[in-house]
Amino acid sequence: MLKPAYPYYLANEAHYANQDLVVTDKYTHLPATRVALANSDVIDQAIAAAVEAQVPMAKMAAYERQQVLEHCVLRFRERAEELAESLCIEAGKPIKDARGEVTRLIDTFKIAAEEATRIHGETIPLDISARAKAYRGMTKRVPIGVCSFISPFNFPLNLAAHKIAPAIAAGCPFILKPASLTPIGALIIGEVLAETYLPKGAFSILPCTRDGADLFTTDDRLKLLSFTGSPEVGWALKAKAGKKKVTLELGGNAACIVDADTQLDDAVQRIVFGAFYQSGQSCISVQRILIHSTIYDALKTKLVAATAALVMGRPQDENTFIGPMISEKEAQRLENWIQQAITAGATLLCGGQRQGAMLAATLLENVPAHCEVVCQEAFGPVAILEKFDDFQQALASVNDSDYGLQAGVFTRDLYKMHQAWDTLEVGGVVIGDVPSWRVDHMPYGGIKDSGLGREGIRYAIEDMTEIRLLIVREIPS
Ligand code: SIN
Repeated sequence: MLKPAYPYYLANEAHYANQDLVVTDKYTHLPATRVALANSDVIDQAIAAAVEAQVPMAKMAAYERQQVLEHCVLRFRERAEELAESLCIEAGKPIKDARGEVTRLIDTFKIAAEEATRIHGETIPLDISARAKAYRGMTKRVPIGVCSFISPFNFPLNLAAHKIAPAIAAGCPFILKPASLTPIGALIIGEVLAETYLPKGAFSILPCTRDGADLFTTDDRLKLLSFTGSPEVGWALKAKAGKKKVTLELGGNAACIVDADTQLDDAVQRIVFGAFYQSGQSCISVQRILIHSTIYDALKTKLVAATAALVMGRPQDENTFIGPMISEKEAQRLENWIQQAITAGATLLCGGQRQGAMLAATLLENVPAHCEVVCQEAFGPVAILEKFDDFQQALASVNDSDYGLQAGVFTRDLYKMHQAWDTLEVGGVVIGDVPSWRVDHMPYGGIKDSGLGREGIRYAIEDMTEIRLLIVREIPS
């Protein structure tokens, strides 16, 4: 159950405000709770407090930062079912996916607790020529300063955690703006952080309107902006970010190649999961399925049967696989894309019907490449089937995209595995599985329009720290 109202967190402390944001249950569309809304004065105070916290945070010992993160792990374990239920309500996330996200939230903080004590430097022999004979160097990593985070609606807990947990491990104060549609997950993380002894000002978690949120991007006291969300918004923010470092985790139209030697039942089970878990609202959800012509008809029949059997319904029901999309407007947008594809000559294999925010799991084939459902990010329960004869041609089709986050390749051929790894223009290639696979310590992020930088705690810590070099000259005796 959600509480009737949630505060925001300004400089580690809970505050209720004059202005509230109503959070709706995404299945019933009824108001579920309210959260305090921060204005630009509050955001300004949060940044000032975070600047004050820079030195005390940087002075925290590694084991102290680790203890804060371990406290979070413990509390998230204790509150796991409450957290999962909050995801069902605020995001409309089916309960199995919601529990999966809570498990990953715990993993993310656990990895960060471990990494907090592993932020190493290196020694560098500098004596590369006669003029440098008596010199040696050493590096350490120092916190970059105050970080600004903007997190998305689709993983309200774990994608906020991918910013918060490495910042604490690295010793960086931060301000975070959660998605206005799903602010509760981040606010519960705030509630748990407020139980710790982080220095005052170390964190602020501030739901706010998009207009009020400009400071998150433009303020020069912030040294890093980390944004997860749509490519359109992400690249626009980067253009306004000034001198700060920017990392972007954006979208994609992820592809999955299924080669002739694939075991069909296994592939069907993985593809249906990859395309439709959490109603397709993941940046790495399977959108384009490229199937070798010799298995195309057999795989299509099995995929359609498995997709048509998915249970749609109330997120809290244990059998529900497909819940609502985040809003009726988003479901309408995708329904229109499906209709436009059909008008352009595509064949609807299953799904396509919409009721409010519920869009049935949909498969299409013969979709012209220019259709939005192929070349834009669908971010919903839709995937398209495409035939190929030649593996090289399939790799080229995957690359024929503005995006490059992850790609999946079902093959048992070692040579093709290397070809795919060498050729695909993406941040990660997944062999024997769908592009939708992620574990939280791996480097995760995209190229092309899909983003800049990598998450995965260790990699995020690299972005949140600067290398500081020490050069030592041996003075002649
Ligand atoms: C995303 O949608 O960007 C993240 C996917 C994941 O963490 O599994």
